[in-house]
Amino acid sequence: MTNPSLLILAGDGIGPEVMAEVRKIIDWYGTRRGVSFDVSEDLVGGCAYDKHGTPLHDDTMAKAQEVDAVLLGAVGGPKYDNLDFSVKPERGLLRLRKEMDLYANLRPAQCFDALADFSSLKKDVVAGLDIMIVRELTSGVYFGEPRGIFKEGNERVGINTQRYTESEIERVARSAFELARKRSNKLCSMEKANVMESGVLWREVVQRIGDTEYPDVELSHMYADAGAMQLTRWPKQFDVIVTDNLFGDLLSDLAAMLTGSLGMLPSASLGAPMANGRPKALYEPVHGSAPDIAGQGKANPIACVLSFAMALRYSFDMGAEADRLEKAVEKVLADGLRTADLMGPEGGAPVTTSQMGDAIVTALDASL
Ligand code: NAD
Ligand code: IPM
Ligand code: MN
Repeated sequence: MTNPSLLILAGDGIGPEVMAEVRKIIDWYGTRRGVSFDVSEDLVGGCAYDKHGTPLHDDTMAKAQEVDAVLLGAVGGPKYDNLDFSVKPERGLLRLRKEMDLYANLRPAQCFDALADFSSLKKDVVAGLDIMIVRELTSGVYFGEPRGIFKEGNERVGINTQRYTESEIERVARSAFELARKRSNKLCSMEKANVMESGVLWREVVQRIGDTEYPDVELSHMYADAGAMQLTRWPKQFDVIVTDNLFGDLLSDLAAMLTGSLGMLPSASLGAPMANGRPKALYEPVHGSAPDIAGQGKANPIACVLSFAMALRYSFDMGAEADRLEKAVEKVLADGLRTADLMGPEGGAPVTTSQMGDAIVTALDASL
C-alpha cells in the first residue's frame, strides 16, 4: 500500500516556525508508530509571490488537488499589504479553498482545563467548553460578484456582494447536521435574516434540511450579532454552530479567545469525497502569520499541531492517533508549559516554539 500523501505549504511569518514543530510530530509517527506520510513541500502566499510573482503557482494548485491532504501554516505580512489585490498572499489561500471546493470549514474551540484560568472570560464561563463552528468557506461575500472598486460620479465606490445559492447552503448545512449527530445533537444556525435576503434564504434552507433529513437534531436559529454576544455571555449553551463565510471568520476569532489564545485554534476545511473516499481537505490553524512575533521563537505551535490531529481524524481515519496527539497537547499544558501568548500580565518564563514542539513529542513518547 502507498503511504498517504501530504502537501505542506508553510507560508509566511510564523507559518514555517509552527510547521517545523508539526514536522517533528510527523517524523515521530513515522519512527514510533510506523505511520509514514509522503510529504512534499511548496510555497504559498508572500513567499510564493517573491519567487513566482503569484501567491499560488498553478503547479502548486495542481499538486494540492492530487494529495490526500494539504497542511497550511499561514500567509500574509506587512511587506505585501500594498500589493495589487489580485496577487496578495491571502488570494493564494482563497484560491486553494475555492478550487478545491472546500465548502465546510470546521473550527473547533475547546478550552483545555489547564487554560481555563487564562481566558479573558471567567473560569466558570469557559471551563470544559467544547464547541464546533462550521463556517461556509467557498462562497458568500468573499467570492460574490460584482466586486471591486469602481468610479461612480465624482467618487469611488467599493463593492462586495453577499451571494448564496440554495445548494451551497444545503451542503454546508448537511455537514453541520452530520457533525451535530456525532456530538450532542444540537445545531445553531447564525445569519442576519432580519436585514439580509441571503440570510432569509439561509434560515429557510437550513430549517428545511433539518425538518426533512435531520428531525432528530435540535435546530435553533440566531442572528449573528446576538450570537456573538451569546458566545461571550455563555458559550457552553452551544455545541455545533453553522454560519456563513464572513460571520464564521469573525465568530471563530472570537471563539479562539474563549480558549485562551488564537494560537490554540486548529481548523479543517473539507470538500466532497475524492475517488478514494477521503474528502478533499486542507488543514490550517485559524491564526495568521503574526508579523508582530515572527522570527522570535515566540509562536505557539499548538493550533498547527492540532490541525494535524484533525488531519489524522478526518483524512486518514486515525481517530485513536488524533486522540493521542490531543492528549499529548493537554499533558504539556497541564504540566505548566506555556508559550508567551499563554502567559498572563504577571508574566513568567515562557517556552519557545521549538521547546513546545519538543515537549509534545516527549508526551507522545510517554503515551506508548
Ligand atoms: P494574526 O492571527 O496573524 O495575529 C493576531 C494576533 O494574534 C497577533 O498579536 C499575533 O501575535 C497573535 N497570534 C496569532 N497566532 C499566534 C500564535 N500561533 N502564537 C502566538 N500568538 C499568535 O492576525 P493579523 O495580525 O490580523 O494578520 C496578520 C497577517 O496574517 C495578515 O496578512 C492577515 O491577512 C494574515 N492572516 C492569515 C491567515 C491565514 O493564513 N489563514 C489568517 C488570519 C490572518
Ligand atoms: C482565516 C483568515 C482568512 C479569511 C484570510 C487570510 C483570507 O482570516 O482563515 O480566518 O478571511 O478567511
Ligand atoms: Mn480569520
